[in-house]
Amino acid sequence: MMKIRICITLICGVLVSGNIGYALTPPETVKITSKQGDVLFHHQEHQAAVNGCQDCHHEGLDVPRCRDCHGIDRLIPRLKHAFHRQCRNCHIKDDGPTECTSCHKK
Ligand code: HEC
Ligand code: HEC
Ligand code: HEC
Ligand code: HEC
Repeated sequence: MMKIRICITLICGVLVSGNIGYALTPPETVKITSKQGDVLFHHQEHQAAVNGCQDCHHEGLDVPRCRDCHGIDRLIPRLKHAFHRQCRNCHIKDDGPTECTSCHKK
């Protein structure tokens, strides 16, 4: 009985804290929610185009979610700024789509 309870506690803990997504397996797609319209990011397709995880996860992968740092502290650029810099700048450089609606879907 005790063992079962510990198991349930652990599983719930992982689900509630969202730690499952923090495994190092890169996701196929990530939905980035936005008031401007959610952005569906094809993670695995994009990954092939760069040198390594660090190119985007510039502080390492212990904290894979950009929003866990950006927008929390005034000294760190806002989330919108961080994403637009990283995503749009590469789209401009490498001929990716740059219209607002190519990323933001209402
Ligand atoms: C082209 C940019 C880019 C590259 C390269 C990249 N990632 Fe990501 N990754 C992202 C973005 C953007 C997110 C979503 C972040 C967010 O939601 O705040 C993400 C999210 C993740 C997540 C969390 C998924 C979730 O559902 O919570 C993991 C794990 C991850 N990446 C692993 C990797 C690994 C491992 C590599 C290298 C093999 C890698 N990434 C390379 C941009 C990238
Ligand atoms: C662990 C905290 C942390 C995480 C996670 C993180 N960042 Fe950052 N980021 C920072 C800090 C701090 C800075 C400002 C200092 C610097 O330039 O390194 C920064 C700067 C940037 C800049 C440069 C902004 C400018 O003004 O030129 C971009 C672009 C950026 N981050 C994008 C991202 C993206 C996209 C993600 C998610 C894939 C991400 N960051 C995840 C902490 C983080
Ligand atoms: C290393 C350069 C690079 C970075 C960084 C990058 N992209 Fe892209 N992206 C591209 C290129 C190139 C294409 C066009 C690919 C094609 O047409 O096959 C593209 C295509 C897309 C598309 C349309 C096709 C699809 O996959 O649905 C979306 C949406 C997109 N990117 C979103 C993003 C977002 C959001 C980010 C930041 C989290 C991002 N991209 C970061 C290079 C990049
Ligand atoms: C390459 C993909 C991409 C393109 C192109 C793009 N955006 Fe974004 N944008 C994002 C991502 C990713 C976010 C981060 C999600 C968030 O914080 O809302 C974002 C965030 C935003 C936000 C902040 C929304 C909020 O909830 O605070 C605004 C406003 C915005 N974009 C407007 C625009 C406009 C206007 C254009 C066209 C000129 C545009 N974006 C083009 C990917 C893109």
